[in-house]
Amino acid sequence: MEKMGTVACVFFVILTSVFCPYSLALTLDGVTLLEIKSTLNDTRNVLSNWQELDESPCTWTGITCHLGEQRVREINLPYMYLGGIISPSIGKLSRLQRLALHQNGLHGIIPNEITNCTELRALYLRANYFQGGIPSSIGNLSFLNILDLSSNLLKGAIPSTIGGLSHLQLLNLSTNFFSGEIPDIGVLSTFGNNSFIGNSALCGRQVQKPCRTTLGFPVVLPHTESDEAEGKSSPYTKVVIIGAMSLMGLALIVILSFLWIRLLSKKERAVRKYAEVKKRLDPKTSTKLITFHGDLPYTSSVIIEKLESLDEEDVVGSGGFGTVYRMVMNDCGTFAVKRIDKSREGCDQVFERELEILGSIKHINLVNLRGYCRLPTSRLLIYDYLAMGSLDDLLHENTEQVLTWSDRLKIALGSSRGLAYLHHECCPKIVHRDIKSSNILLDENMEPHISDFGLAKLLVDEDAHVTTVVAGTFGYLAPEYLQSGKANEKSDVYSFGVLLLELITGKRPTDPSFVKRGLNVVGWMNTLLKENRLEVVVDKRCIDADVGSLEVLLDVAARCTDANADDRPSMNQVLQILEQEIMSPCPTHIQIILK
Ligand SMILES: Nc1ncnc2c1ncn2[C@@H]1O[C@H](COP(=O)(O)OP(=O)(O)O)[C@@H](O)[C@H]1O
Ligand SMILES: *[C@@H]1O[C@H](CO)[C@@H](O)[C@H](O)[C@H]1NC(C)=O
Ligand SMILES: *[C@@H]1O[C@H](CO)[C@@H](O)[C@H](O)[C@H]1NC(C)=O
Ligand SMILES: *[C@@H]1O[C@H](CO)[C@@H](O)[C@H](O)[C@H]1NC(C)=O
Ligand SMILES: *[C@@H]1O[C@H](CO)[C@@H](O)[C@H](O)[C@H]1NC(C)=O
Ligand SMILES: *[C@@H]1O[C@H](CO)[C@@H](O)[C@H](O)[C@H]1NC(C)=O
Ligand SMILES: [Mg+2]
Repeated sequence: MEKMGTVACVFFVILTSVFCPYSLALTLDGVTLLEIKSTLNDTRNVLSNWQELDESPCTWTGITCHLGEQRVREINLPYMYLGGIISPSIGKLSRLQRLALHQNGLHGIIPNEITNCTELRALYLRANYFQGGIPSSIGNLSFLNILDLSSNLLKGAIPSTIGGLSHLQLLNLSTNFFSGEIPDIGVLSTFGNNSFIGNSALCGRQVQKPCRTTLGFPVVLPHTESDEAEGKSSPYTKVVIIGAMSLMGLALIVILSFLWIRLLSKKERAVRKYAEVKKRLDPKTSTKLITFHGDLPYTSSVIIEKLESLDEEDVVGSGGFGTVYRMVMNDCGTFAVKRIDKSREGCDQVFERELEILGSIKHINLVNLRGYCRLPTSRLLIYDYLAMGSLDDLLHENTEQVLTWSDRLKIALGSSRGLAYLHHECCPKIVHRDIKSSNILLDENMEPHISDFGLAKLLVDEDAHVTTVVAGTFGYLAPEYLQSGKANEKSDVYSFGVLLLELITGKRPTDPSFVKRGLNVVGWMNTLLKENRLEVVVDKRCIDADVGSLEVLLDVAARCTDANADDRPSMNQVLQILEQEIMSPCPTHIQIILK
């Protein structure tokens, strides 16, 4: 039997290699990427999985492909310590929409061939050593939304064709050596001095510096003195200054991270010390109170009395697993108490053992579980109370207070930090299973705290062989989770991507405006990305949204909601992107050495 299997197998291999000899060849885009790799100096070996023997480049580091196609849509390799030049082969990636190579050590010119990538929507080449000018046919990139060439060694005039790029929303040519008059046409007239900082030889209305009088003499302006001083500094001084600043930055970061690590290990020790569990058993009534980490500075009888007195008036909400109450102690300490539905009863011992693990998890972006109480009639979980309530309420119910864009960025960043902690720092790792806006709770400072982690697993019986129960909430669930009922980190990543879209659009994932078009929020976003219509996705109430961070959030959301779980980033990767692109968009080259 086994032999027959082997024979069949060998036969099959021969058959396939005879009849489809090219089926395993790398796609053309893949070949092009290898050409691009060949002119890069990959000092950290980040491109080691760009291999000739692969069939498709879509799983390579930094590469994202179009949905359902093997064509390259994005190259994302910022902060990768890449040296070398950009090969003119880049022009063959005709479906490329995003090229992010910022914060590397690339030099040489920006190849003119790049303008062959006519779908390009975002071009990030910030903080490299590019020389020469802006490619003259840049006007071909009619979809360009974002052009960030700041902090390079570029020179020459600013092509007037940039003015015709009607989608351009972010232009940054700061700290280069551009010269001449900034053309005052088309979109070029919409950008202010912030787009041109540190190019002392530029003049024009946008930088409030007239070029020349009609007689051809330079106009003397009150503030030209400082400009001239800046103008005198040669590229060499610039390099020295940047070098010195980087060194100082490095020193600072080393010190800070040292302190941070110290603090962490101290905290960890503290947690361990408190890992003893305080119990009070009352055999008569089978009432039991467990507090984790000595986190509840009240006597058991005081707490139990309070818990027993909770009633309708104290209810703050209810969800899939039970009702949530607000419990105010006599000293004004406030807690949230979750009463678990009777129907969810399982084995007490298993439940309590698992709870102890959950109770030991402490992180600024996670809701702290302080205790557990078993009363004769119910089971109660005691959590920190978060004053601002859930993100769901703030986004969709509260009409007085509109979440600002910077609040939303903070929420995106904090939530990714909390979830990354559950996935990558906890042992055993914890899959949340129910990431959604009503499980993101906010404190007075709008810092997000993820709630209900680990609960879904505890309360849904995994061993029930009958139809698998899916714990999560419709609209947030990854396709493979819906299909198989099996949750893992990547299904959480999907839900996190949906959460990001909810933050951006201000709409529920199941909003009728998505469904009407026969789509969910993910399909809707993908359609808009394809049509390069970024601007319509953002919540209209969010007047302070900036296109730079919007583009990054959308990009992360798109990658998180990839239909193929393997192609989604890990939460650690998501966190790293958000930290680099949103928290510190200022050049900090040294940052990831410490990762
Ligand atoms: N720790 C807490 N602090 C403040 N409000 C909370 C807390 N936990 C839950 N809530 C509120 O109670 C509601 C119900 O929570 P829950 O039972 O977890 O259901 P769901 O998460 O499905 O909405 C939440 O939407 C939230 O508004
Ligand atoms: C690549 O970079 C390293 C370090 O920056 C340098 O020593 C080496 O010479 C470079 N190699 C090439 C081929 O440029
Ligand atoms: C430009 O793109 C076309 C296809 O869109 C391709 O045939 C051509 O080779 C590309 N040119 C360069 C210089 O890459
Ligand atoms: C790109 O621009 C150049 C000149 O600016 C023009 O000659 C060329 O035809 C354009 N190519 C495409 C594909 O639009
Ligand atoms: C930049 O422009 C703003 C107004 O558009 C002005 O208030 C500010 O002083 C300018 N900054 C510099 C450095 O010129
Ligand atoms: C452009 O970049 C410079 C330096 O990197 C930064 O100070 C400036 O705020 C940026 N301007 C815009 C419009 O993003
Ligand atoms: Mg909840």
